[in-house]
Amino acid sequence: MRTVDAYNFAGKKALVRVDFNVPLDADYRITDDTRIRAAVPTIQKILDDGGAVILMSHLGRPKAGPEEKYSLRHLVGRLSQEFNTTVKFAEDCVGPEAAQLAQDLQPGEILLLENLRFHKAEEKGDTEFARELSTLGDVYVNDAFGTAHREHASTAVIARYFPNDKVMGYVMHAELDNARRVMDNAERPYTAIMGGAKISDKILIIEKLMDRVDNLLIGGGMSYTFVKADGGQIGSSLVEEDKVELASRLIAMAREKGVNLMIPVDSIIADEFSNDANVDTALSHHIKPLWMGLDIGPNAREMYADVIRNSKTILWNGPMGVFEMSNFSVGTEAVAEAVVDATRRGAYSLIGGGDSAAAVNQLGYADRVSYVSTGGGALLEYMEGKTLPGVAAIERDDY
Ligand code: 3PG
Ligand code: MG
Repeated sequence: MRTVDAYNFAGKKALVRVDFNVPLDADYRITDDTRIRAAVPTIQKILDDGGAVILMSHLGRPKAGPEEKYSLRHLVGRLSQEFNTTVKFAEDCVGPEAAQLAQDLQPGEILLLENLRFHKAEEKGDTEFARELSTLGDVYVNDAFGTAHREHASTAVIARYFPNDKVMGYVMHAELDNARRVMDNAERPYTAIMGGAKISDKILIIEKLMDRVDNLLIGGGMSYTFVKADGGQIGSSLVEEDKVELASRLIAMAREKGVNLMIPVDSIIADEFSNDANVDTALSHHIKPLWMGLDIGPNAREMYADVIRNSKTILWNGPMGVFEMSNFSVGTEAVAEAVVDATRRGAYSLIGGGDSAAAVNQLGYADRVSYVSTGGGALLEYMEGKTLPGVAAIERDDY
């Protein structure tokens, strides 16, 4: 893999694609800076070499043109503080102002470009837009693992304008390394914990994991599609009716392959989707009409924790319940604690991005697991065996 380590940035302007798609609150304050912290070593390496850094990223999914809540200007303060410098900002990622600021940039300085997605050309992978961006720098660095599954102008297309000067950053390298670790030759027992609302997002990865894992623990909203497939009464729990048959097939597949597929035996149930709802505990197969399962129950918690504590490799993607509501966060917390415990005793644990990463960060456990991914969709697609355009664009000469 061609990484920043193999490149001397002295006197160069590095155009660095980062994934600074971070959550902001109503006052535009960053509520989770994991992705910013993750990108620091790559930026620092370029500065230490005597290079200048031009940062480009998307933020959110703006529909048409600029929107204040998606402005990357809100990150300037945080970045300036991190690097102890005044980070410059270009109001538009292309055009005369960006060109001038890039041209004037001195070694050791950082320029942040406004949200790439304020131009529709970004997501379209427009070559003219990619070419214009490319003129801002001498070398292209892709460190945006979280966006590597997108074939956009700044994540992939732009690489063709740097045939001999394109490398990946440390985040990208570490992410690929960690993902490979759970895909090839994982130490056993190997346990995958899959949660979240929908099976449809996880089908391919679950099928892939069936050939690798010893235990597959199911949690979150998607549990109830499995419970229904298994003949249970799920009340008004979340269900993907069109996926019930698929869930049956996955249950049968696990049996055939000798995988211990676990569906939560019990659930915390509620009479409405609210933290103020009335709450009860029930067997997941016998949920009262009009009540819904919003977290795994106490017995499931204990059983899952037990399996996790006896594992040598753990992959966790998706929360066990509606963890953003305090009454339904206990299952996710119990799983997080068990993962931390297993890690302390020598297991390797990878937390797949998105909500499970947010949960681990929120609980303050990020340093007590082996690796927290900055990618949600990108990590899943990589583990499903798909080629990530952001990676291919760097690795392939003919891209
Ligand atoms: C993410 O947060 O999933 C990445 O930044 C990619 O964003 P996207 O899903 O809007 O392409
Ligand atoms: Mg996404």
